[in-house]
Amino acid sequence: MANIGVLVGSLSTRSYSQRIVNYLERSQSFLNLVQLNFDILPLYNPDLEQVPVVEWQVFRNVVDQMDALLIVTPEYNFSIPGGLKNAIDVLSVPLPQAHIEKKPILVITDSSGERGGVVANTHIQQLLRYAGANVMNELIAIGKVQDIFDHNGELQDSQVATMLDSAVKNFADFAET
Ligand SMILES: Cc1cc2nc3c(=O)[nH]c(=O)nc-3n(C[C@H](O)[C@H](O)[C@H](O)COP(=O)(O)O)c2cc1C
Repeated sequence: MANIGVLVGSLSTRSYSQRIVNYLERSQSFLNLVQLNFDILPLYNPDLEQVPVVEWQVFRNVVDQMDALLIVTPEYNFSIPGGLKNAIDVLSVPLPQAHIEKKPILVITDSSGERGGVVANTHIQQLLRYAGANVMNELIAIGKVQDIFDHNGELQDSQVATMLDSAVKNFADFAET
């Protein structure tokens, strides 16, 4: 069974992105989804590569053990939340064997607006491809994310649920090929 590391771009305890991941953990229970926290990573600074920074080392080692990465994130100002960008920067070096080189990655974005963070999604895919990742060519952007959950935080929109299940199943196949 593939180990899929999960990066949630929102740090909020009330995060809708996190609720999407919670749903997938239940619906795709045959997959080994491993949530990876990156909020303790110091900001990337090349000067510190020689020190070394223990948090970066541990994070890189854990990601090395993952067969693939699933990113679920809100759009922030038409772009990527800063903490998630820092985590990707940490994984993108040191060269020549960056830690996301050839790593299969699926990007899911969400937003409170209609478009579901499509601008951020395409932007994140672009920067991951630049860093050498094997990004799945899907544009999964969930708009009006606040409307797809019931009062208990459970996913209630069956169309979104079907779309998410199908995307993650396809991604698991993509990651194994
Ligand atoms: C700093 C910030 C920037 C945001 N920028 C955008 C944006 O560019 N486009 C958009 O549709 N929504 C934007 N939003 C709204 C978020 O998409 C929405 O709050 C989303 O639910 C946050 O995800 P979360 O619930 O996982 O924390 C922004 C929210 C914040 C806090």
